[in-house]
Amino acid sequence: MKKKIWYTYDDIHRVIKTLAEKIQASGVKYDAMIAIGGGGFIPARILRGFLGIPIYAVTTAYYDSEFQGKVTDSVKKIQWLDPIPETLNGKNILVVDEVDDSRVTLEYCLNEFAKENFGTVGIAVLHEKIKEKTGKLPEGMPYFSGVTVQDWWINYPWDAEDIDEHNRLAAESRD
Ligand code: G4P
Ligand code: MG
Repeated sequence: MKKKIWYTYDDIHRVIKTLAEKIQASGVKYDAMIAIGGGGFIPARILRGFLGIPIYAVTTAYYDSEFQGKVTDSVKKIQWLDPIPETLNGKNILVVDEVDDSRVTLEYCLNEFAKENFGTVGIAVLHEKIKEKTGKLPEGMPYFSGVTVQDWWINYPWDAEDIDEHNRLAAESRD
C-alpha cells in the first residue's frame, strides 16, 4: 500500500509562506490567481494573504474510467471561467493548485488557459511530488512549489472527517 502522510493547516500555512517568498523573488508581478478547485481553493486563499491579489476559480475533477477494458484517465470541467473575464486580458496569471502529482490536471488547465490572451502564466503548487509525470507543462513556464515531497499519498486537513484525529496522525508521522 502507498505510504501516507498527514499535513495540518499550520503545515500548509508555513509552506504557503515559503511559496509566496519564491513567487515574490521571481520578480514577476502577478495580477491575479486562478485557483484550480477543489484542492487549490484553500491554498489560494491563504496565498492571497501574502500576495494581495484577487482569486478567480475553476473546478475540475479527475476520473479513472474504464472503457472496453482499458483504464484511461481524464479531466472534466465542473466549472470554468467561460468566458474569461475581460479584466484579465493581458494580465499575469498565477495558476494555483495544492499538488503537482501526475500533472494531468495541470496540463489540461494550462492548455485551456494557453488559448486565452493572458500575459505571463505561472504555476504555484504547495507540494511537488518527485515522480514520473504523465502530463507536460509548457516549456519555460514559471513554476513554483512550496516544497518537494516523496510520492506518498498526502492527507490534507480540508478532507478530514475528524480534524483532531488528523492532527494526531500528522504529529505521529513527524516522529
Ligand atoms: P496534477 O495535474 O495537479 O498533478 O493532479 P492529478 O491530475 O495528478 O491529480 C488528480 C487528482 O488527485 C486531483 O484531485 C489531485 O488533487 C488529487 N491528488 C493527487 N495526489 C494527491 C495526494 O497525494 N493527496 C490528495 N488528497 N489528493 C491528491 P481533483 O480531481 O482535482 O480533486 P480535488 O480534490 O482537488 O477537488
Ligand atoms: Mg485538485
